[in-house]
Amino acid sequence: MKNEASVTAGLRQFPIRPIYLVSAQYEGKKNIITVGMFAVFSGKPSLVGVGLAPSRYSFDLIRKSKEYVVNVVDDRLMDAVRVCGEKSGRDTEKFEATKLTPVTGVKVKAPLIEESPVSIECRVVKEVEVGDHVWFIGEVLAAHLREDYDWSDGLLLKWQGEEGFYYKAGKRVGQY
Ligand SMILES: Cc1cc2nc3c(=O)[nH]c(=O)nc-3n(C[C@H](O)[C@H](O)[C@H](O)COP(=O)(O)O)c2cc1C
Repeated sequence: MKNEASVTAGLRQFPIRPIYLVSAQYEGKKNIITVGMFAVFSGKPSLVGVGLAPSRYSFDLIRKSKEYVVNVVDDRLMDAVRVCGEKSGRDTEKFEATKLTPVTGVKVKAPLIEESPVSIECRVVKEVEVGDHVWFIGEVLAAHLREDYDWSDGLLLKWQGEEGFYYKAGKRVGQY
């Protein structure tokens, strides 16, 4: 039997979800934001989306440049995830603060994060306003993978009560 709970408590019991660093650039200003709201929307064409609140500095950069890069993170990037999820690019230069390295991609001007094991370059094809976030739907134009990447190092977030904890994935329990 299930007991009725608050909406927040219910959503926080959903399985752990991945966290990403999204990088963007407009008129020479680079920034990185920590994002949990990421989804795949289409296979062909390859469309993904990131949900950003309009108050984020990154929101303006992505809206104006119509580009972003989604960077997968592992536990070595946990400190950067904290900085990029707490500080705003309005008053912190986050590539300097995190000592991460911006790298030029092949399709968009938004920088890739060198230390990230997987980065995808996206061009915004649609904006969808949903409640208090805007989803920037982007076509994936290029993907970059580090050879030795182990997907099970990917960082996941799980809420337990009022506290959030980071986990790593990686226990195989069946075949698709
Ligand atoms: C784990 C985690 C997940 C987050 N997910 C999102 C998200 O999906 N969308 C969003 O707009 N903000 C999200 N945030 C908040 C932003 O990362 C935070 O407000 C950041 O400081 C905004 O940076 P900016 O102003 O430089 O863009 C998240 C923060 C954390 C710590």
